[in-house]
Amino acid sequence: MAILLTGGAGYVGSHTALALLRAGHDVVVVDNLENSSAESMHRVEELAGRSLTFGQFDVRDTDRLGKLFADGSIDAVVHFAGLKAVGESVAEPLRYYANNIGATTSLLAAMDAAEVRQLVFSSSATVYGDGGEPEYVESMPRNPVNPYGQTKAMIERILEDVAASGRGFRFSILRYFNPVGADESGRIGEDPRGVPNNLVPFVAQVAVGRRPELLVFGDDYETADGTGVRDYIHVADLADGHLAALASMPAADRAVAYNLGVGRGWSVLDVVTAFEKACGRPIPRRVIGRRAGDLAACWANPAKARAELGWTARRSLDDACADAWRWQSANPSGYS
Ligand code: NAD
Ligand code: UD1
Repeated sequence: MAILLTGGAGYVGSHTALALLRAGHDVVVVDNLENSSAESMHRVEELAGRSLTFGQFDVRDTDRLGKLFADGSIDAVVHFAGLKAVGESVAEPLRYYANNIGATTSLLAAMDAAEVRQLVFSSSATVYGDGGEPEYVESMPRNPVNPYGQTKAMIERILEDVAASGRGFRFSILRYFNPVGADESGRIGEDPRGVPNNLVPFVAQVAVGRRPELLVFGDDYETADGTGVRDYIHVADLADGHLAALASMPAADRAVAYNLGVGRGWSVLDVVTAFEKACGRPIPRRVIGRRAGDLAACWANPAKARAELGWTARRSLDDACADAWRWQSANPSGYS
């Protein structure tokens, strides 16, 4: 198949592009490089030993998208393009709504015009919000607590409405838990701009000497060691989840959500210990207060993805830390 990846130059997109090329698919990427670098695409081609097609433009440019679809070669789309920083979304909600919702409606219009009606969407566990139970099941209500999460919940709703309109669309909604790690080559990985918001890239930058210490956001949660617990999923397993989703798309006029997670939680201190093992050096850390909006614990119930997509996470947290360290130590400043 020929697959269009919007936002395919980013962290999850680049790993999925590699997995698709390795599986023999053709890959077309559209990315405005707002939060990524074209270098990731060169490295994906080098690792796969095959080339992909890259277009640098904004997905909201429906005319350019239309031209891309015009030759009829694209079979399906994976829609990664979006802004994803929670704190930034609270400070600049309009930018988040305009980009994330606007990119999705533009894409759907271009797909409809070209009669390409299969789409896999990058959603997030953040759509559940504080549901009370730490183990999330797809049937739980959506209850996002910040503008970023709202955009994901709204896009899920848009996809459900478009599916229900009877135009033959098939939507697979993938709710990622916490993607971590890198391709085992260490050639591609997560390259956040500025101060990392997420735990593992922050720890990796401490390990490589770019930052003096990890700030642990609270150790007074009701968890085994008092620090927050999350479901960390290796990005290569997540990439495989997209291949599984493309191979088992829902029936026409259906939008179906799947949790992509491991199905268990690790604490902040578990992650630090695993990373120390991977890099062979201590990670200095200091406990500060809780981060606003954080939950004590959450993890996926991945049974639906296993049953319907035949997908399950195979790599361990130790694998993820070893691969993240290989990437970070070989590329201390990321792609630049
Ligand atoms: P990323 O920022 O590395 O990748 C997103 C890519 O989209 C970037 O390359 C960016 O330049 C591009 N982009 C953004 N808006 C665009 C637009 N309007 N037109 C064209 N390109 C645009 O993020 P990621 O971690 O790879 O995440 C991919 C998707 O998965 C996002 O939608 C994100 O919200 C979602 N997600 C990520 C995580 C995570 O922790 N990484 C968790 C849950 C969901
Ligand atoms: C965060 C986002 C969530 C998004 C997800 C993507 C918030 C409130 N939530 O979730 O919407 O979908 O990233 O992966 O931002 N931690 C520290 N120190 C740090 C960074 C994190 O102690 O410097 C702790 C956090 O308190 C948390 C855990 O590490 O307990 C994981 O944090 P993070 O990687 O930011 O992921 P989430 O909070 O799950």
